[in-house]
Amino acid sequence: MRVRLRLFRDGKYVLKEFDLDVEDSPTVLEILQRIKEIDPTISFRAMCRSSVCGTCAVKVNGEHKLACNTRVSGEEVLIEPADGYAPIRDLVVSHEEIFEPMKRNKIWLVPREENLRLSPSQLGKTSKAWDCILCGICNSVCPPLLEGRDFGGPSLITKLYSVEEDPRDSLGEERLKDVLQLNLQNCVHCSNCNLFCPKGCMPERWVSLLEGKLVQKGYIQKKTEDFGFLGF
Ligand code: SF4
Ligand code: SF4
Ligand code: FES
Repeated sequence: MRVRLRLFRDGKYVLKEFDLDVEDSPTVLEILQRIKEIDPTISFRAMCRSSVCGTCAVKVNGEHKLACNTRVSGEEVLIEPADGYAPIRDLVVSHEEIFEPMKRNKIWLVPREENLRLSPSQLGKTSKAWDCILCGICNSVCPPLLEGRDFGGPSLITKLYSVEEDPRDSLGEERLKDVLQLNLQNCVHCSNCNLFCPKGCMPERWVSLLEGKLVQKGYIQKKTEDFGFLGF
């Protein structure tokens, strides 16, 4: 298999190619580890190897994927850094764009004093959003973010929804005022985030639900025109 790597080196992108003997269908991460043995200078990021840590997102043949859970076959594969993040080196991009807004907007559970027991239906309401591993793939395919529009973005909003709707959080609806700064109305509801999220977190659903809540509470006006570039 010919592996083509588009790497960020010394301020510009360069292409490096490697020919590997591969059996079956290796994961992209296995391929990168094989290449690292040939060229130890190649940099990429990965930790858990099991779709949990969220660190290994790259572009594989033009689509954003987790390197550790994506198998490839065929004659050739192209691996590139994820879009929408500042490149650091080779396939490694900055994740500050994911974590800094979370810190700024205090998006973490602030537990109540009492120990609440949640029913399965209460848990079910947020469990998909809690599955988010902050890999950032949804942001890499989000048109308003890629266009530089002022928008919180799907990963941030997914995490926000999981805490805002969780009965164990002591801030609850107080968080809605902070949500206003995230300009939810800049989401074009294209569903790219739903399509490419490797954990099936359905970020667009949480954007829509929070947007609806802000309209219902009178914080924002309902949009009169609302369609994405896909037109639905
Ligand atoms: S919502 Fe999905 S794609 Fe987005 S950061 Fe979380 S796990 Fe990754
Ligand atoms: S649905 Fe909204 S949040 Fe998801 S990718 Fe499209 S514009 Fe971004
Ligand atoms: S290495 Fe952890 S998600 Fe891929």
